[in-house]
Amino acid sequence: MSAGAALEGRVAFITGAARGQGRAHAVRLANDGADIIAIDVCGPVSPTVTYPMPTSEDLAETVRLVEATGRKVLAREVDIRDLAALQQVVADGVEQFGRLDIVVANAGILSWGRMFEMSEEQWDSVIDVNLNGTWRTIRAAVPAMIEAGNGGSIIIVSSSAGTKATPGNGHYSASKHGLVAITNALAIEVGEFGIRVNSIHPYSIDTPMVEPDAMMEIFGKYPAFLHSFSPMPYQPVHHQGKKGLKEFMTPEEVSDVVSWLAGDGSATISGSQIAVDRGTAKY
Ligand SMILES: NC(=O)c1ccc[n+]([C@@H]2O[C@H](COP(=O)([O-])OP(=O)(O)OC[C@H]3O[C@@H](n4cnc5c(N)ncnc54)[C@H](O)[C@@H]3O)[C@@H](O)[C@H]2O)c1
Repeated sequence: MSAGAALEGRVAFITGAARGQGRAHAVRLANDGADIIAIDVCGPVSPTVTYPMPTSEDLAETVRLVEATGRKVLAREVDIRDLAALQQVVADGVEQFGRLDIVVANAGILSWGRMFEMSEEQWDSVIDVNLNGTWRTIRAAVPAMIEAGNGGSIIIVSSSAGTKATPGNGHYSASKHGLVAITNALAIEVGEFGIRVNSIHPYSIDTPMVEPDAMMEIFGKYPAFLHSFSPMPYQPVHHQGKKGLKEFMTPEEVSDVVSWLAGDGSATISGSQIAVDRGTAKY
């Protein structure tokens, strides 16, 4: 556990925790002192998603890494499109750990294509997971947070695609823009319970979701789309001793922001959109 254990005694519910950013957030919040409720679908959600999805072994590895910090973890294979299953895992987590303070609504999927050509399945799957599934996550978790009575922090994982045009994945952009609306209205709805809600907007994080081949195919066909996907030309902050050119950010760099939003250091921040992109969305 890190010095100070800023989240000691708190409980965090993290979706999409089998790998990538979700796993990094689970390990980081555990290092900060929180017990973890970790869920993931651990399997395919739609044939229109072309990158491999995680397996049960990936979620088991997250469990191993969280337990190595000395914190407790409840992990379960749950699809965020299934409200009853979300409510059950939240109830079981609260029964085991006594409370719920933090939600990281991180699960999501991505696919590529022009909106006027894609199948209904491609459109619906992205909206159903990223937008509807995130609403279901909140629907399951917020009553338990209010019941626990300790306030808390909800971090909604949107994307730079949630604040700007991203031709070639307009359905994804629509889902991630929708998360901004959820974030800001929810921040007002739950403010009276001492619960804060903010969205984060990462860009180019090194995870299996980023498929250079699929991106290159789209940009090859439609070169004008490239303007909407800024390169990461430099790293303005010297992060953990590293400096200079670097294309992708690591999930752990996003976890630094999630950790800050989860903790009391961000107590004045609610209904905010936090870009985690080294400034590239400004291009
Ligand atoms: N990688 C990037 O560059 C990037 C940039 C901006 C935003 N994001 C967002 O960050 C979040 C995490 O993505 P990542 O980069 O770690 O990719 P990832 O594919 O490694 O992780 C996403 C996780 O969500 C899980 N998931 C997907 N659908 C689910 C469902 N229906 N129910 C439960 N779990 C489900 C997956 O199984 C996977 O473990 C996503 O919301 C993504 O849209 C990623």
